[in-house]
Amino acid sequence: MWSPRTILSILLLLLSALVTCTSLDALKSAVQNADDCQSCLSLLGMLQSIALTGDDPFIVAFTNLCIQLGAADPDVCTGLVAREGPIFAHDLRQISSTGETAQKLCDALMGVCVNHPVNPFTVTFPKPPPAHPKRFQSRGRRPIRVAHLSDSHVDRLYTVGAESNCTKSICCRDFDDSPEIPTVPAQPNGNSRCDSPISLADSMLEEVERLSPRFSIFTGDVVEHTTWLVDEAEVKTDLKAFNDEMAAKLSAPIFPSLGNHDTAPVNAFARRTSKTTNDSQWVFDIQSAGWEQWINPTAALELRHHSGSYSSKVPGLGLRIVAVNTQFWYKQNFWLYDSDVFQPDPNGLIAFLVNALQAAEDAGDRVWIIGHIPLGKEDTMVDQSNYFDQVLQRYKNTVAGMFFGHSHHDEFEIAYSNYSAQTAENAVGIAFIGPALTPTSGNPAFKIYDVDPDTFEVMDASVFFTNISDPNFQIRPTWSLYYSARDTYGPLVGLSAVESLSPAFWHNLTEVFVANETAFQMYNTFISRGGAVSPCNDAQCKNTTICDLRAFRSENNCDTPSEGISLRRRNEGSIREDDVCEGTGLAKIFSAMVGSALQD
Ligand SMILES: *[C@@H]1O[C@H](CO)[C@@H](O)[C@H](O)[C@H]1NC(C)=O
Ligand SMILES: *[C@@H]1O[C@H](CO)[C@@H](O)[C@H](O)[C@H]1NC(C)=O
Ligand SMILES: *[C@@H]1O[C@H](CO)[C@@H](O)[C@H](O)[C@H]1NC(C)=O
Ligand SMILES: *[C@@H]1O[C@H](CO)[C@@H](O)[C@H](O)[C@H]1NC(C)=O
Ligand SMILES: *[C@@H]1O[C@H](CO)[C@@H](O)[C@H](O)[C@H]1NC(C)=O
Ligand SMILES: *[C@@H]1O[C@H](CO)[C@@H](O)[C@H](O)[C@H]1NC(C)=O
Ligand SMILES: *[C@@H]1O[C@H](CO)[C@@H](O)[C@H](O)[C@H]1NC(C)=O
Repeated sequence: MWSPRTILSILLLLLSALVTCTSLDALKSAVQNADDCQSCLSLLGMLQSIALTGDDPFIVAFTNLCIQLGAADPDVCTGLVAREGPIFAHDLRQISSTGETAQKLCDALMGVCVNHPVNPFTVTFPKPPPAHPKRFQSRGRRPIRVAHLSDSHVDRLYTVGAESNCTKSICCRDFDDSPEIPTVPAQPNGNSRCDSPISLADSMLEEVERLSPRFSIFTGDVVEHTTWLVDEAEVKTDLKAFNDEMAAKLSAPIFPSLGNHDTAPVNAFARRTSKTTNDSQWVFDIQSAGWEQWINPTAALELRHHSGSYSSKVPGLGLRIVAVNTQFWYKQNFWLYDSDVFQPDPNGLIAFLVNALQAAEDAGDRVWIIGHIPLGKEDTMVDQSNYFDQVLQRYKNTVAGMFFGHSHHDEFEIAYSNYSAQTAENAVGIAFIGPALTPTSGNPAFKIYDVDPDTFEVMDASVFFTNISDPNFQIRPTWSLYYSARDTYGPLVGLSAVESLSPAFWHNLTEVFVANETAFQMYNTFISRGGAVSPCNDAQCKNTTICDLRAFRSENNCDTPSEGISLRRRNEGSIREDDVCEGTGLAKIFSAMVGSALQD
């Protein structure tokens, strides 16, 4: 017999189907015509009126829209909207459909209404900068070796023999709609259309161990990109399994940080103010238990109570690793849009960073900041990126380096004391980014840093890679040095033997890129480790790329389209489409729905 609950939900579904039939056509044309701020806001108004009738009608309408407009395969539409739809509906019920939060939603979903100036906020510091900052001086001692791993995206359901040329964003799996006989069967060690098989991750960890680093950092994203299928149970399994693999293969400590894929649904880290039980505390609890062996019990406790952030001293060194959960500043985290009240510091993570840096300054230690999403790209909120930069300016003497992943690229971002005067003298911070293990954006790779044991500045950054096009790759991946930044770039900049790869060095390298096309093209090839190179031959692409290298604050990058330029037009420009790496999420579906108008 059917329970009253089941009958109720069937009634609800019928009701929502009714709502849907009448409004779907109007909604469809509203979506297809949403190409500027105003039309996006009126679309949100329509979606809001459906959300006010409940989650179920909202999910039904949105799913139908996604399927009818061919934004993705039906199973992808259904799975994704079922997971992210309730958060979106929750947002729409809490906010005005024309206010600043709604405009930020339009920015996140469609790249419109983006011309928001930074909300002014002055970060407060416990102490003014010291009158005589501690000088960290190299004694020319032998560098220590540190490994930087990122974006492993291990797909534990990777299936050898499954279709690798499928219609979804990630293949090499037996999906419900997979063909009986695959046209291009997946091979054992990976494919550029698929996330990492376990064998590829194991192979990288074994190579890192062979290089015997003093310690490693991991800048997040353990879980694979099948966002429409991933649920809490899978994330739990994936996080634990990768922790166990790192523990089994690496003998030195690992300092990890959380990525936007390391929760469910993808990107969704609720703010404390949301007062929901669907927060990501379970993620923090799992990683607190899993990482305690490396980061120490106090840091593990911090991680649990500060939404995934912690500060930990590296044993035997005057260096602290401060890990921040950058997802609270990420535009694709849809929990950030559930109030019209502006929050400068969601979950107090900027304040946490300040306290950790003050403690390091007081102790005379240096700091490496690690996190998943670098702060300079268009996918980070301009507000928190600006406030983070204020913190960096205050503690620039303490911060010896910053390390991120997320873009899957081998790249960097420079912070300046004055972004209107970008010179070597004004360069105050350097963020080292990527590369990724997953083969979806080039050849699998990781970095090895040679680090001065007195200043903790990076003396060299070497990329190690495995070539997925090499005939032997499927038999056994072999890893080798791809290039050393010091050997390759040092002579172009005129770096002397004692200088580190400082912010000024990286700035001067961008000057070389402006003047020397060969050097710039070499860099462009390095971004994806020589595989799947995205051409950058016109002046606009080069200008954007160099502008972005000089933007650690997202308000300064050149990615942001000007008002009224929607994603569909932007895709034709020379901005790298894969720069924003959220995988298939609400924004991808939205842009595909808007884009579908072009094919009509
Ligand atoms: C919270 O989780 C419950 C139970 O899984 C689900 O029904 C609900 O839609 C979720 N709410 C949001 C806003 O995600
Ligand atoms: C992959 O599939 C597409 C679309 O069906 C087809 O055009 C392409 O040739 C296929 N690629 C390979 C390598 O078979
Ligand atoms: C920053 O640089 C610009 C351009 O050189 C200059 O006009 C401005 O005064 C500088 N700002 C500060 C605070 O030094
Ligand atoms: C950067 O270039 C400036 C101007 O050419 C030079 O004075 C400075 O020494 C260079 N710094 C580094 C680290 O290469
Ligand atoms: C430009 O860069 C290439 C390497 O990428 C180097 O071989 C060449 O000497 C550079 N040219 C100049 C003028 O510095
Ligand atoms: C990878 O291997 C392919 C096939 O052997 C080769 O053409 C390509 O140049 C290699 N790529 C790199 C970056 O070494
Ligand atoms: C990019 O283009 C702008 C506008 O033409 C120009 O001011 C700027 O100097 C260029 N930047 C680079 C790095 O070429």
